[in-house]
Amino acid sequence: MSIKQEPGREQWASRLGFILAAMGSAVGLGNVWRFSYVTGENGGAAFLLIYIAFIILIGIPIIMAEFTIGRKAQSDAVGSFEKLAPGKPWKVAGLMGVAAAFLILSFYGVIAGWITYYFTNYLTGTLWTAPAEGYESFFVSFITNPVKPLFWQFLFMALTIGIVFVGVKKGIERSNKILMPLLGILLIALSIYSLTLGGAQEGLAFLFTPDWTALTDPNIYLAALGQAFFSLSLGMGALITYGSYLSNKERLPGAAASVATLDTLFAIIAGLMIFPAVFALGMDPAGGPGLVFMVMPDVFDSIGFGGSIFGLLFFFLLAAAALSSAVSLLEVAVAYFIRKFSWSRKKASLIIGSIIFALGIPSSLGQGVLSHIRIIGDRDFLDSFDFIASNIFLPLGGLIIALFMGWGWKKADALRDSDFGETTLGHIWLFLLRFIAPIFIFLVFLSSIGLFG
Ligand code: ALA
Repeated sequence: MSIKQEPGREQWASRLGFILAAMGSAVGLGNVWRFSYVTGENGGAAFLLIYIAFIILIGIPIIMAEFTIGRKAQSDAVGSFEKLAPGKPWKVAGLMGVAAAFLILSFYGVIAGWITYYFTNYLTGTLWTAPAEGYESFFVSFITNPVKPLFWQFLFMALTIGIVFVGVKKGIERSNKILMPLLGILLIALSIYSLTLGGAQEGLAFLFTPDWTALTDPNIYLAALGQAFFSLSLGMGALITYGSYLSNKERLPGAAASVATLDTLFAIIAGLMIFPAVFALGMDPAGGPGLVFMVMPDVFDSIGFGGSIFGLLFFFLLAAAALSSAVSLLEVAVAYFIRKFSWSRKKASLIIGSIIFALGIPSSLGQGVLSHIRIIGDRDFLDSFDFIASNIFLPLGGLIIALFMGWGWKKADALRDSDFGETTLGHIWLFLLRFIAPIFIFLVFLSSIGLFG
């Protein structure tokens, strides 16, 4: 099938640019903020084991499927399915991806706003020494404030909109080249330091010595699946959209493997940084979404004077990583609206970005003035948005993508278009897409039906 190029579509300037952008989309708050608290809440090592198994058996095959679909179709998350399978219902996966991008970016902007606020507090010196009320109360009084977090959320979203407004190549590629390696180095340095704090044994045991009885808890599987999709930017249309800015000259399997490996390494290193510190400080690993904000300032404090520099760098680089992920999420929706409604890139970024900002307001207020409102089960706005998007939409979208690539394409076409060719790896890939990923996702959903209430 030959695919017509949509007029005015951009392409990545280089192969490195694409890989860096895809890595930039994957590596973000999911690896540090979300990975640490979700792992903490789900008991540590057993969760990590299932998470890694899901990355290998489900995540990597679906990354490959998304790249292949996007590059083949040269269109956005929905348009790609419309082009490749006109009139068929597969495009539901794309529509769910766009919906998930809206939902995720709405609360992502809130958390990234908190990160930006912490960064400025390290810049101005406010957090160089512990505030009189302690780091924990400082955090709580900030997030429960009805106005302040909204300001920082707004600022972060404005930056995200600005980058998408400028365009694919100029904005996204440049911001990733330098900052991501720096974040990696910093996380490694901090995890080495964290291991010296006295909680190394407990922290390492928590992360790497599984409590096998935890495997009987269906919660863990759904949480691990949601975390794998969230962290790899899967099922949200981001990798289809980024793949669509790719020319035919690239080799996809190498790119997919690098993205998954790097993303997982970032998460494990973040775990090595946080959990030894959590135990050294006598805190609760299941402390919830505030974990990073309550633990890390204490760690920086314990370093002494130089600690403030680490704090400054940590929150700056984390904000930058969040920005490249947020950009990819906004790009999903913007690319869709540009094609579907013939909007200009500028108009689409401004309008969609503003809607997503507004959608995030309840997640922010839900920490304070609206904290009495519970949406799904006992979850506040932020947790509910996250649950619906990450644990339901993303895996469901992923399931459809796996079925589409595995069963909806001719085997020979799939192998050729993915660059695998007739190789053993290529056949393993299709086997995982056809059977393993769908069956696992289905079973996880089935086992967790009782958890949705
Ligand atoms: N994949 C992105 C992250 O991990 C959304 O933050």
